[in-house]
Amino acid sequence: MSISRAIAEQMERSSWIRRMFETGIQLRRERGARNVFDFSLGNPDVEPPAAVIEALRLVASRNSPRSHSYMPNAGFPEVRGVMARQLAARTGLPFTGEDLIMTNGAAGAINTVLKALLDPGDEVIVLSPYFPEYRFYIENHGGRTVTVETGAGFQPDVARIARAITPRTKAIILNSPNNPTGAVYSTDVLRELDAVVRDPVIVISDEPYRPIVFDGITPPETLSIVRRAVLAWSWSKAMAIPGERIGYLAIPPQLPEAAALRNACTFATRILGYINAPAIWQWVVAEVPDVTVDVAQYQSKRDLLCDALNTMGYEAPRPQGSFYVFPKTPIPDDIAFIRTLQSEGILAVPGSGFGRPGYMRLSLTIPRRDIERSLAGFGRAIHAVRHAVQLEPVCA
Ligand SMILES: Cc1ncc(COP(=O)(O)O)c(C=O)c1O
Repeated sequence: MSISRAIAEQMERSSWIRRMFETGIQLRRERGARNVFDFSLGNPDVEPPAAVIEALRLVASRNSPRSHSYMPNAGFPEVRGVMARQLAARTGLPFTGEDLIMTNGAAGAINTVLKALLDPGDEVIVLSPYFPEYRFYIENHGGRTVTVETGAGFQPDVARIARAITPRTKAIILNSPNNPTGAVYSTDVLRELDAVVRDPVIVISDEPYRPIVFDGITPPETLSIVRRAVLAWSWSKAMAIPGERIGYLAIPPQLPEAAALRNACTFATRILGYINAPAIWQWVVAEVPDVTVDVAQYQSKRDLLCDALNTMGYEAPRPQGSFYVFPKTPIPDDIAFIRTLQSEGILAVPGSGFGRPGYMRLSLTIPRRDIERSLAGFGRAIHAVRHAVQLEPVCA
């Protein structure tokens, strides 16, 4: 067998994703695609805003000399300058283009900084429930994942985080707005966190969902509050372009080790084989850095789904951001409940996949009409398990 034991074992751990995908195919075959309601994918169902496609046309027609060539590994200096000015205005920190490295989305940014930070056996804290890929990213670089449960409203529990920090801790990954919970971390909790994060720990603030927030809220600026934070940014969700692989890593200049970390990350992006972020998309996002998909459509789908589920008896708090709803499953066994939903043609992701059994993740990247048509199935599923649970003691 030529496959590495580590990869074989990681693939086995993530095989539930493949099984879900296969179940989806089978359900579509049995019921017809029209009668399968797929809440499992975090893949935006909207097209990129017209301004993004217009910028792509402009960049292609301009076809400036050297715009397709190798460049400094950190990205085109002019593009990084645009992003730095924007970030400086937002955070009040004196960013320059030097402080940014253009990356292959947030995943590229996180892998780059982890590569730069970790020696084998170093620990990285992730807050549970968490984006499952973090574990693999950390293991890519010989790190060890330490999970810490979040507290009320899925906010970071700083006392628990402080207890989990050891001399081997190198990083803490934050993700706000959060996948899978939709929580937006509060200013107070970020201030508390700032007080416990000391050299050599770096906070990696993973923020691909920052523009996708509801009810008019503005997420606090982690970089302005947590002094030892770096930012992993991406346009994947903001512009609905996850296939284009464009984002950046920002290292605040006031970080004492900023220059060393910048150099290490630039080197890491090269030796990880990214070399640099896609050239064309660097120019495109520099034309329209703030353009965002229509967030109102996600908010209206959130309201439709949460209101309906809560009326049926589910516990489905309204997320403040991202495009996921994370209700409790009506029975503690989330995997069993996911199967009940499948029998109604509904595909959802069990909370166990995010390190939090007893919950499920429903993605709002599904047409509104499909949400409406799925509601009867959600109703029958909760009724079925409630009925079964009530009958159990009688049968026992
Ligand atoms: C929390 C979180 N971080 C990072 C990523 C990766 O994003 P990108 O496509 O920008 O690499 C995702 C994608 O789903 C995500 O949900």
